[in-house]
Amino acid sequence: MEESGKKIEIEICLGTTCFVMGASKLQELETLIPPKYRNLVEVKANTCMDLCKNATYMKAPFVKIDGELITEANVEKVLNVLERKING
Ligand code: FES
Repeated sequence: MEESGKKIEIEICLGTTCFVMGASKLQELETLIPPKYRNLVEVKANTCMDLCKNATYMKAPFVKIDGELITEANVEKVLNVLERKING
């Protein structure tokens, strides 16, 4: 587990495609992160990751955790990956 310094970065795409495909629900992600993990992560919004420009748009919405792409992201998936990253 990371003690201090670098935080795990969660990047949520809130661009139009991702937003209509479900990212609107991810906006509340920050409040759903378990309290014990909150100071280990940093949640950011992206306006478009350029992943919706080709066939991959079918897999929107997109979230990246420390650069690892999560497709068809939802709160549960994101929290699962986060847990894995924190607990190894
Ligand atoms: S709107 Fe999310 S990748 Fe473009």
